[in-house]
Amino acid sequence: MRTLVVDHPLVAHKLTVLRDKDTDSPTFRSLADELVTLLAYEATRDVRVEPTRIETPVAPATGTRLATPRPLVVPILRAGLGMLDGMMRLLPTAEVGFLGMVRNEETLEATTYAERLPEDLSGRQCYVVDPMLATGGTLAAAIRFLVDRGADHITAVTLLAAPEGCARLEQELADLQIPVTVVTAAMDEKLNEKGYIVPGLGDAGDRLYG
Ligand code: PRP
Repeated sequence: MRTLVVDHPLVAHKLTVLRDKDTDSPTFRSLADELVTLLAYEATRDVRVEPTRIETPVAPATGTRLATPRPLVVPILRAGLGMLDGMMRLLPTAEVGFLGMVRNEETLEATTYAERLPEDLSGRQCYVVDPMLATGGTLAAAIRFLVDRGADHITAVTLLAAPEGCARLEQELADLQIPVTVVTAAMDEKLNEKGYIVPGLGDAGDRLYG
């Protein structure tokens, strides 16, 4: 697994405002959206493309277009929904599938309560979006789900990640034979006893939609 922490002053600035507990929900939603677009630019560096021929107003030319099958973007409900528009701005022709997952706040185990994905993901490149990679349980289960359906290239885009969660992903996904990349705006210090990322930004779902 490859982890990419996006190092850019605008990412750092927007993330700082997101972390601030005095930032209200409308501002949080709009900043998260802007931030995701910046992350998506880095996350799509490996998006599959193919050559194409076009005619400019002046001459024939060789160009590049997104390959088929088109990529699949998977927001993990609920908080991942706040990242969907930002991803789709850069990948407007992508297909979208949904996974509803919730973490039990006592046991910290993730369970799936909704799923709307194509049955067959053979040869598909997938972008999973979820603001927080905390213990890693949610993302590990989501990635496993997509790979079991045939996905052969996974990029997870998160706003924040914890070292504990990344280590768990490395361990739980070690048997996968496909490329898995985590793209995040920051790698925070640790998890606290409640499984929250420290310093983090609080509960992303509540701050977006609570
Ligand atoms: C949060 C977050 C991730 C998950 C991360 O969602 O959006 O999905 O927890 O935790 P983990 O890495 O320890 O599994 P939550 O379960 O609170 O649901 P929500 O999106 O509905 O708020």
